[in-house]
Amino acid sequence: MQNEIINLLKKEKRISDNTINEISSIEINDFADIIKEVGKQETEYLKRDEILKDLKTEHIGKELYIFKEVMSTNTVAKFLAANSAEHGCVILSEKQSNAKGRFGKSWESPLGGIWLSLILTPKIVDHSKIPLMTIATGVAVVKTLEKIGIENPEIKWPNDVMINGKKVSGILTEAITKFNTIEHVIIGVGIDANIDVKELSDELQEGTTTLSEELGHEVNENEVIKLFLEEAEVIGTLFNEGGYEAILKEWRKYSYSIGKIVEVKEPYSKPYDAYVLGISREGALVVEKIDGTLKKVIAGECIIKK
Ligand code: BTN
Repeated sequence: MQNEIINLLKKEKRISDNTINEISSIEINDFADIIKEVGKQETEYLKRDEILKDLKTEHIGKELYIFKEVMSTNTVAKFLAANSAEHGCVILSEKQSNAKGRFGKSWESPLGGIWLSLILTPKIVDHSKIPLMTIATGVAVVKTLEKIGIENPEIKWPNDVMINGKKVSGILTEAITKFNTIEHVIIGVGIDANIDVKELSDELQEGTTTLSEELGHEVNENEVIKLFLEEAEVIGTLFNEGGYEAILKEWRKYSYSIGKIVEVKEPYSKPYDAYVLGISREGALVVEKIDGTLKKVIAGECIIKK
């Protein structure tokens, strides 16, 4: 973590190599204050005022930190969560140099994308509800995309947001636990907004799209962020009130997976083909295997075959 912070300060040109030794001896709480101070700035593309102006939320985005470049907004969020950030705190960065995707994969985050993390400190959340929080975030993303004029955005289980069969957004949820109790949930959202897919590595280009490509014009990132924060607050409130069925109903409306044949890849087991029947109350994918047995897939990945 210390290295992450030092790198962040270096990128922000707030630290010279000579002071690294000095800074290494700073108390960890002071680091949090330094990060928060750096994050009060604006960057060339991310504008605090535009995001916060008339923002219709009670919690989400009320505490907001903006960076030019961090390794991963989720890592910064985890650190701030442990150092007294508010519920609903948002971390934004123009670029990420070491961003994380699901299954330990890396996530390419050049300039022009929306890279953000939310710190949630729910009153009570048991572990089984975490997948549902990710599902709910997927719904917030598709609703945001609809608001900016994207037609027919879909969600591929569990949380890849797709447009015309190509991925435009991914979500990485991480829980911070203490003695098996969830203290914070960090929800990282990446949206390929104004990126040229040619900037991405070859293996990603075919299956990826961007908002600008789909709309035929660049989007105002600040506007998209603001809309997303508002949608996240709406669905978050529904979640807190126990409206799990309503969230699942919304998710099913946007499902790209239901009714398709997929290859299921679960951690530590052999991939298998199955037909997607639906989504369970906990947010697991319910599939029928080729031999007719039913299975709930709680964690994993699905590759659509037809
Ligand atoms: C996926 O693999 O689909 C999830 C990708 C999540 C990427 C976002 S970008 C903001 C946040 N910071 C990270 O390091 N990852 C998430």
